[in-house]
Amino acid sequence: MVAPSSKCCSLFVDKLPNGSEKGTYYALDLGGTNFRVLRVKLEGTRSSTLEHDVYRQAIPQDLMTGSSEDLFDFIASSLKEFVEREGDISELSLDRRWELGFTFSFPVKQMSVSSGTLLKWTKGFSIEDMVGREIAGCLEEAMTRKGLNMRVAALVNDSVGSLALGHYHDTDTVAAVIIGTGTNACYLERTDAIIKSQGLLTTSGGMVVNMEWGNFWSSHLPRTVYDIELDADSPNPNDQGFEKLISGMYLGDVVRRVIVRMSQESDIFDPISSKLSMPFILRTPLIAAMHEDDSPDLEEVRRILRDNLEIPDVPLKVRKLIVKVCDVVTRRAARLAAAGIVGILKKIGRDGSGGIAGGRSRSDQKMRRTVVAMEGGLYTGYTMFRDYLHEALTEILGEDIAQHVIIKVTEDGSAMGAALLAASHSSYPVDSVQ
Ligand code: GLC
Repeated sequence: MVAPSSKCCSLFVDKLPNGSEKGTYYALDLGGTNFRVLRVKLEGTRSSTLEHDVYRQAIPQDLMTGSSEDLFDFIASSLKEFVEREGDISELSLDRRWELGFTFSFPVKQMSVSSGTLLKWTKGFSIEDMVGREIAGCLEEAMTRKGLNMRVAALVNDSVGSLALGHYHDTDTVAAVIIGTGTNACYLERTDAIIKSQGLLTTSGGMVVNMEWGNFWSSHLPRTVYDIELDADSPNPNDQGFEKLISGMYLGDVVRRVIVRMSQESDIFDPISSKLSMPFILRTPLIAAMHEDDSPDLEEVRRILRDNLEIPDVPLKVRKLIVKVCDVVTRRAARLAAAGIVGILKKIGRDGSGGIAGGRSRSDQKMRRTVVAMEGGLYTGYTMFRDYLHEALTEILGEDIAQHVIIKVTEDGSAMGAALLAASHSSYPVDSVQ
């Protein structure tokens, strides 16, 4: 079973949004391929649809490895443009500062609900001067440079944002899982069960634990020579071992490495394409498209091999072999993610076995409805991955228990949840908010 990684962080989020939140809040979501800005209006009552506007933008590659000032200036400018487009800029200069939920999806040492220092980068980001610095402060300085009078009211991981939104809509939500560019999970834990939180006062008797499960490591993980080489060539070797077997940033490259080996050890791809040796040229959406090609001649596979890898026409049986490789790599990823989810359910006693200390038999216990919020392009955009994950959940839990576990997609959850958390941790009393 998956245990929390050494980077597991208990958070200061002890108060999940409950519907009483009121006012206009912003959210900024940084952590994957795209960066998102969002504005949400809360009416003070729980609503099934939250009125919001969202703007998405790809992060320029050079900013992912440049300086922190450049990255934060870029983010603050985009946020300012968004605010201006929404027509709120005049209100921003009034004495009331607008509040922002900042979803920052990297390992953070949380200092308070609205501050934390960056422990390390993951997912291809590498801005050295940022490691060890306080993140909300960096953003606030950049916002001030750009003339934006905003305060970070909540600094959260994407999994925590998803949990906040999931829980807002459905109070049976006990955990959230992200499977996109990277992967991670968080769950609701009783405060007395968290060693790191000793001495902390909480209002609800519960806390959100950000597992940083991408960094989980065990010698039992099914690593192959392809995974070992991918890890060694990555900017963060010996790090994020679980993530490198599961998430969207890496799956395509594992498949590419298998194809490279096939081309070296046989003549099926003769002549060998030089494109094939380029790391990350075969992105995960491409392996999804090949895997899900249902044309009898595997035309999509043929097209992707030709257009993206410069592999000339190969016989149908070779194309079938490539689909099989995509299948094996994806199925392994989905099953590992499912094992991680079951690990959480087991930890909080929702796997039907009565909890770690429970000892009651499955049949003795009435399984409660258990919702896991889910977000991330790999899960939402790749049907076969999703199917394999559900299949493995049922296989591990058994049908009787699995039918009570609901995986619910929270769209834009990580950002929306951050806005909600900014509202529930706002420094203005609800009554003072228009
Ligand atoms: C990486 C980050 C983690 C994040 C996950 C999903 O694993 O370290 O903080 O939640 O990606 O975006």
